[in-house]
Amino acid sequence: MRAMEITLNSPLDMHLHLRDGDMLKLTAPLSADFAGAVIMPNLVPPVTTPEMMQGYAERIEAALDGAAFTPYMTLFFTALGEKELLAARETPGFFGFKLYPAGITTNSEGGVSDMAQADTTLHLMEELGIPLLVHGESHGFVMDREQEFLAVYRHLATRYPKLKLSMEHITTAAALKLLDEFPNICATVTLQHLIITLDDVAGGALRPHLFCKPIAKRPEDRDALLQAALSGHPRLFFGSDSAPHPRCRKEACGCAAGVFTGPVALPKLAEIFATHGALENLQAFVSDNACKWYGLAPVQKQITLRNTPMSVPAAYRSYGQEVVPMYAGESIGWSVVR
Ligand code: NCD
Ligand code: ZN
Repeated sequence: MRAMEITLNSPLDMHLHLRDGDMLKLTAPLSADFAGAVIMPNLVPPVTTPEMMQGYAERIEAALDGAAFTPYMTLFFTALGEKELLAARETPGFFGFKLYPAGITTNSEGGVSDMAQADTTLHLMEELGIPLLVHGESHGFVMDREQEFLAVYRHLATRYPKLKLSMEHITTAAALKLLDEFPNICATVTLQHLIITLDDVAGGALRPHLFCKPIAKRPEDRDALLQAALSGHPRLFFGSDSAPHPRCRKEACGCAAGVFTGPVALPKLAEIFATHGALENLQAFVSDNACKWYGLAPVQKQITLRNTPMSVPAAYRSYGQEVVPMYAGESIGWSVVR
């Protein structure tokens, strides 16, 4: 096989769950090939104040043990006034707000139940240039939740035309269409949603480690997302949504939602882009597009990937924690050159 290589400049993960405590210590270093990541605030309790956010950022830094990695911190969206929004914006490391419909996913019970109650805050965020990242699912039938939520995105994009609005972890061709309809919307897409469909989760033996929210959809959705990513769509960014849960919470009756992809994300992306002859667009997808949209200037960091296989461990274990990654016990065609 012909040796192939790509060097990425400052790859970014625009949607990452690192958790806290021992799980944070285990997972943070496993995402440290990225130059930075947008860190989700759905801890227990959620990260709702600048003080909580700063404390969390410090614990992330400590867990990274000197790695050049910028946590772009988010606050869990609640209705706030101008003074509070300004305080958030001034806090070092602050990136934006993450809005969850109440109860829609892991630790989102304190989310928004009525968008009208968010109106004043959203107008202020628009004025202040504060990004809004949204977990876009309705409480409808599980396969239709994202599609049903598109009306809310449409409403937000129309009512707050200058708001920097991100549809997080999109899973449908319909969401991509909306991206093209509204130039003021961007989106992230995960690794797994470029690869799997509902069949991989539940079509044969149930595979709990591929179960996440939003649930993987139909082949035509997966194919449309993959084509958009491969083409380097300027408003589609890589956001792994790597969401570690302890093995015992995944291999359980009542499996927690979340796929743990942090340690395999860059090698697998390189393999996919290479397989489709689109390696030249990987830089845009994992960094440049997001940098342009948000005006980010991440730390300089070069990561070289090569088509020599990576053996993915059956599990990652330390600090008394055990997490099973996507492709556990399997081999990926590409790996990071150390
Ligand atoms: C995420 C988690 O576990 O925190 N789970 C998931 O399935 N993606 C929450 C989320 O982003 O929905
Ligand atoms: Zn997430």
